[in-house]
Amino acid sequence: MQFLDIGTGIPSADNTHEVAQSVVPESRVVYVDNDPMVLVHARALLTSDPAGATAYLDADLRDPEKILADPQLHTTLDLSQPVGLVLIAVTHFLTDDDRPHEHVARLLDALPSGSWLALTHFTTDHIPNQIVERMYAEFASGRMKQDAVPRDRAEFASGRMKQDAVPRDRAEFARFFTGLELAEPGIVPVTEWRPQVPPEQRPALADASIYGAVARKP
Ligand SMILES: C[S@@+](CC[C@H](N)C(=O)[O-])C[C@H]1O[C@@H](n2cnc3c(N)ncnc32)[C@H](O)[C@@H]1O
Repeated sequence: MQFLDIGTGIPSADNTHEVAQSVVPESRVVYVDNDPMVLVHARALLTSDPAGATAYLDADLRDPEKILADPQLHTTLDLSQPVGLVLIAVTHFLTDDDRPHEHVARLLDALPSGSWLALTHFTTDHIPNQIVERMYAEFASGRMKQDAVPRDRAEFASGRMKQDAVPRDRAEFARFFTGLELAEPGIVPVTEWRPQVPPEQRPALADASIYGAVARKP
């Protein structure tokens, strides 16, 4: 098995290669992140099982050409064989001006048939409207110490505002999977994706506010 994990985050328990290699020791994983703090901790990601391999690229999802041209990517992964593209909680850090859908499509283009995409994304779809409106009102009050104040969602997502993350609705989330075959149960809040605990033990949809899906490139 081989994975391209972009937006890796600071290493913690159960990093992608540890989970993959616990099932298939020969698994190979390339990690990519643009945060210097993650780079500082990257050594913890290079603890591959000797049967497999891992690599870390200091690169940006907004520059897929750089990722795809990196020699370390090609020494670690065989792009003639299916790859799992892992984008967990990262695309919502790209504004609409950053063109996240285009970059995900470009990466998928470079992967062969039989590859998979796993992607999760912040949404406000399950947060009651009055709370979303209050969120914008809070920004407008200046209490959030924004440099500038978004008037509405369109401005919030435009990239002209200083913000942490851009929520996207179901349709915008679904666009990441254009041309792919969704695995069951399709596009759902992550708490509903093959849950292993009963409903009463899961967070409320509004508390999670993250869509997730896994899909195969035909
Ligand atoms: C919320 S963390 C998710 C970490 C990990 N995927 C997980 O689910 O635990 C988001 C990560 O994406 C990285 N990131 C944000 N924007 C990025 C970009 N444009 N290119 C690469 N990485 C990015 C951040 O540095 C951070 O490490």
